[in-house]
Amino acid sequence: MKKVIIAGSSRKDGDTEKLVNQLADLSGWDVIDLNDYQFGYYDYEHLNRDDDYLGLMQKLIAEYDVFVFATPVYWYSMSGIMKVFFDRITDLLTIEKDLGRKLRGKKMAAISCSIGNNLGETFWLPFSETAGYLGMDYLGHVHTITDKDETARIAEFVQQVNEERWKPVDTGNVIKS
Ligand SMILES: Cc1cc2nc3c(=O)[nH]c(=O)nc-3n(C[C@H](O)[C@H](O)[C@H](O)COP(=O)(O)O)c2cc1C
Repeated sequence: MKKVIIAGSSRKDGDTEKLVNQLADLSGWDVIDLNDYQFGYYDYEHLNRDDDYLGLMQKLIAEYDVFVFATPVYWYSMSGIMKVFFDRITDLLTIEKDLGRKLRGKKMAAISCSIGNNLGETFWLPFSETAGYLGMDYLGHVHTITDKDETARIAEFVQQVNEERWKPVDTGNVIKS
């Protein structure tokens, strides 16, 4: 199964890039940086249908089976660029339904980084619920802290995704409510 890390930070040379490089080194997975593509936020009238988004989705769907999203935590959420990427999936439910159907059976996982602790399971809902809605299998997630050596946790995440076994990685700091 061919896997790709989809990196979404507001900068190309920041903490997410370091995390993505480490993840790519440990896994051998390909990397796509959303900063290399120009796409606008979701438009009900689809006036932005000719920007880079649909071409990027065609490439991802044609070439990969597993999408691993890598995002920094910005204001308790995924980054803005990644949220726009997710919002634009709506294009695949409206003007590009055939492409959208091809997401069924593909797989998704997610990794985050921030200066703070894991925010708890609700942080991951946009990923896991979107996967479910699209008919994708959700393989799991992990949060990493930027100034810590997270090699072991990242390696565990790689194994989890490769073996397709979904069990929450022990973050050490899961908020239980
Ligand atoms: C706009 C913005 C919002 C942030 N919000 C949070 C937050 O809610 N929780 C947190 O722990 N860190 C927060 N941070 C810190 C970043 O998550 C952290 O510095 C991360 O490693 C930055 O990754 P980057 O270099 O790829 O942008 C925020 C940073 C920015 C720029």
